[in-house]
Amino acid sequence: AENDRENMFALNDFAMRYFEKTLKETADGRDIGLSYFRYRGISDAMIEKFHLGYALEGRDALYKTAIERGYSEQYLISTGVCNRTDDGRVYDRFRGRVIYPIFTLAGKVVAFGGRTLSSEKKIAKYVNSPESDIYLKRRELYGLFQAKQAIAKAQKCILVEGYMDVISMHQAGVCNVVASSGTALTVEQVRLIKRFTSNVTLIYDSDAAGIKASLRGIELLLQDDMDIKVLLLPEGEDPDSFAQSHSSSEVEAYISEHETDFISFMASILMDGAASNPTKRAEVITRVVKTIALIPDEIKRSVYAQECSRILFMDEDVLRREIGKYYNEFR
Ligand code: UTP
Ligand code: MN
Ligand code: MN
Ligand code: MN
Ligand code: MN
Repeated sequence: AENDRENMFALNDFAMRYFEKTLKETADGRDIGLSYFRYRGISDAMIEKFHLGYALEGRDALYKTAIERGYSEQYLISTGVCNRTDDGRVYDRFRGRVIYPIFTLAGKVVAFGGRTLSSEKKIAKYVNSPESDIYLKRRELYGLFQAKQAIAKAQKCILVEGYMDVISMHQAGVCNVVASSGTALTVEQVRLIKRFTSNVTLIYDSDAAGIKASLRGIELLLQDDMDIKVLLLPEGEDPDSFAQSHSSSEVEAYISEHETDFISFMASILMDGAASNPTKRAEVITRVVKTIALIPDEIKRSVYAQECSRILFMDEDVLRREIGKYYNEFR
């Protein structure tokens, strides 16, 4: 089994180099793939750093090359680089897409994300490698391999949604950034971050899905005793679009000026339109109270009770009592 895993990593490493070579050394790679990265404002340095690539449109361009080079079909299938039809034919999973390899903490390739260049809604925006013996989605964080030193140095990890967010932030000089890649943040991912720092800033997309994911992320991070901040970008922006349209110093200044604690974030999101309605106000306060009750550390809970009282104009003793009630209920 150990040998199988090694063979799967070797196959993924071959596929990564194949996609990189295709991007740079084939006509379609340059005209389609590289043009797309240029259009997205991605520099050559980032293409190198993240080993970005391109998968040709044909049904088995990679398959044929891999077999020619002596790689066995077994690992093409088990890694998910290729797929098998019901009648037994093997074809490339990624076709006509730009490629984002996903690395483990140690720098081994476990999976790929492939983005369509088309804006047609019918086509899946991203195709990702399936889970396998070497790839469990919930255990990986996109960009951690490239970001870990910066995270340790800054004692802060910025958490974003997607591949392009990580890459454009790096390009803007903000390198302590990782992505949960579209899946809801998991305990395993939080533990990975915790190896480097306990400070996390969430910068999710400024849309309904991103806000919902932030609220869920806040709960998970607090439960694991992480110290969190949240930043809401201007509506409709994500870290990629923001970093691409601002200078490095503007990005850094925006983050330090606009990141807030989770209570201010929840208040501004949830109180919107609810402030003058007593029932809704009470619901929002209860929601914040329940969130504070997730924090394991009593002193931190107390500090946030104070903060909550100040921000939401609510009697601190009432808040403390309610936080204590939910804290005991949750244990
Ligand atoms: P987004 O839809 O926000 O995409 O999904 P994005 O990262 O901003 O991509 P661009 O800027 O349009 O190129 C966020 C992340 O969710 C995962 C990907 O990891 C993506 O980066 N995702 C999204 C998928 O895996 N599949 C999808 O179909 C969509
Ligand atoms: Mn999104
Ligand atoms: Mn996005
Ligand atoms: Mn985007
Ligand atoms: Mn500006």
